[in-house]
Amino acid sequence: MRIVTSPEEMLRAVKEVKAAGRSVGLVPTMGYFHAGHLSLMRAARAENDFVVVSLFVNPTQFGPREDFKDYPRDLARDSEMAAEAGVDCVFHPRVEDMYPQPYLTYVEVEGVSEGLCGALRPGHFRGVATVVAKLFHIIPAHRTYFGLKDAQQVMVIRRMVEDLNFDIEIVACPTVREADGLAMSSRNIYLGEEERKAATVLYRSLRLAEEMAVAGEREAGKLVAAIRETIASEPLVEPEYVEVVDWGLLKPVERLEGQVLIALAARVGKARLIDNVILEIEGG
Ligand code: PAF
Repeated sequence: MRIVTSPEEMLRAVKEVKAAGRSVGLVPTMGYFHAGHLSLMRAARAENDFVVVSLFVNPTQFGPREDFKDYPRDLARDSEMAAEAGVDCVFHPRVEDMYPQPYLTYVEVEGVSEGLCGALRPGHFRGVATVVAKLFHIIPAHRTYFGLKDAQQVMVIRRMVEDLNFDIEIVACPTVREADGLAMSSRNIYLGEEERKAATVLYRSLRLAEEMAVAGEREAGKLVAAIRETIASEPLVEPEYVEVVDWGLLKPVERLEGQVLIALAARVGKARLIDNVILEIEGG
């Protein structure tokens, strides 16, 4: 497996692969791999001749008081895991090569970036859209793979690809969970033992809401109240938001209809965790 740090060299390598008539799959990541990342790599491996994983902790998507400096990094461990998953190439650029100074151009996706995490992390999705747009130019892949744990991110990138005519297929893959339901996240390593146990309440509360919807509940407010009540049973978990939005423009809904996203974010100790479920409501 090859590790490439220069954007120019990466683009050259991908152009060569494509000129030989081979398909390219890209998995954008910030590293510190877990089973969720590996499932994206395997999906990319199954559908493409050449698989690139980008590994870049992107400074522009972190707020000034967020964990950019502390974000876990371990290139040796990640490279080994990527090689085992059958990845052909890891793209690991330096910050100064991704954002040479002066750097003045950003991608702003309106609407879908503004609610949920976007409301609490100003500039976050602008940073995500910008770096992903750059990655799509440096690695002009046929397909790219994202996890649905970051459901809003998937929607932001889908919009960007459609609005800016990127020629790439987005493959959204299911959230990978620990045996007790906790969504896999690189940030789970911030959790102490008690916090780790308490964090399982997040998915439990989402499952309860899902069961209520399956049983016929259509009032979004009732689901939100049930989720909040369940989370309140864990004093170590402090919810930031719980919302039901349409799975499209991500606008809050009052009644469940069509495809809806139930999304939440919570603080558990030092960790900020997010999770969600997407429901298909039949008959409204
Ligand atoms: O989901 C992530 O790891 C990041 O937001 C991404 C898409 C790699 C952009 O930095």
